[in-house]
Amino acid sequence: MTQRSAPVTSVPTPSGYTGKVAIVTGAASGIGAATARALAAAGARVVVADRDADGAGRVAEEVAGTAVTVDVTDAASCAAMVAEAVAAYGRVDLVACNAGLTTDPTPAVDIDEGDFDATFAVNVKGAWLTARAAVPALRAAGGGAIVVTGSVMGERTRPGFAAYAPSKAAANHLARTLAVELAPDGIRVNAVAPVATDTPMLSTFLGSADPEAARERFIASIPLGRLAQPEDVAAAICFLGSDAAAFVTGVVLPVDGGRSI
Ligand SMILES: NC(=O)c1ccc[n+]([C@@H]2O[C@H](COP(=O)([O-])OP(=O)(O)OC[C@H]3O[C@@H](n4cnc5c(N)ncnc54)[C@H](O)[C@@H]3O)[C@@H](O)[C@H]2O)c1
Repeated sequence: MTQRSAPVTSVPTPSGYTGKVAIVTGAASGIGAATARALAAAGARVVVADRDADGAGRVAEEVAGTAVTVDVTDAASCAAMVAEAVAAYGRVDLVACNAGLTTDPTPAVDIDEGDFDATFAVNVKGAWLTARAAVPALRAAGGGAIVVTGSVMGERTRPGFAAYAPSKAAANHLARTLAVELAPDGIRVNAVAPVATDTPMLSTFLGSADPEAARERFIASIPLGRLAQPEDVAAAICFLGSDAAAFVTGVVLPVDGGRSI
């Protein structure tokens, strides 16, 4: 298939991040790392949060930000992350609830119960705990934004993902629910819904003995003719978190090259 959208190699710099402070979870890798880079390039001071301490340290060094080791499934850890952000930079304006987990494609009847629980713990409870911990700081800043990394699979499912797809449906809906609750505080909450994105997580989504063939089959289902790059998703997160999206709340924005049309 012809590629109808040039791969993104850098995120166009959105305005309005100078002086702002962003926390990005899952920022040691993939979409989170691209988001940390894009926000820093746009002038934000960035807290690079991940359970992978080494990875977070590397990205934080790159963006001159602050690395925080966090387990988003743990309430105390999320509270400590926000406290570190406030201690380092005095405020929080944007929180990207991006840490995520998936498992290899497995029939629903065969999914290990522990894997099911772990998927929901990170993708749903983790996003909720992260947002919950950050709301007092966002309120103290006079308002702000939360962006949840959901998935196109939260709106349209696929066989083999009976834990991941429902967890992302919940993550997408968490964003909508928080949006209506937090609007009176001037806190906007949105989600991005990426299609298969070229990150370390991709191989689990393609899940095949012949990954190259699976990749080509997948690309053939995307009208713009390529997979997402982490920078495509980072650009959408930066937009939704910025003042350019001042009147946008409660949306789940597909970043999918038209796959879900
Ligand atoms: N790659 C894709 O195809 C794709 C598509 C749609 C949505 N997503 C979502 O995008 C987000 C980012 O994924 P990615 O593709 O960049 O994958 P990735 O594996 O490159 O990054 C995920 C990061 O989350 C971190 N993480 C996992 N559990 C954590 C925890 N308990 N506490 C703190 N950090 C934790 C990991 O250490 C890792 O750095 C996820 O929410 C994922 O579900 C990815």
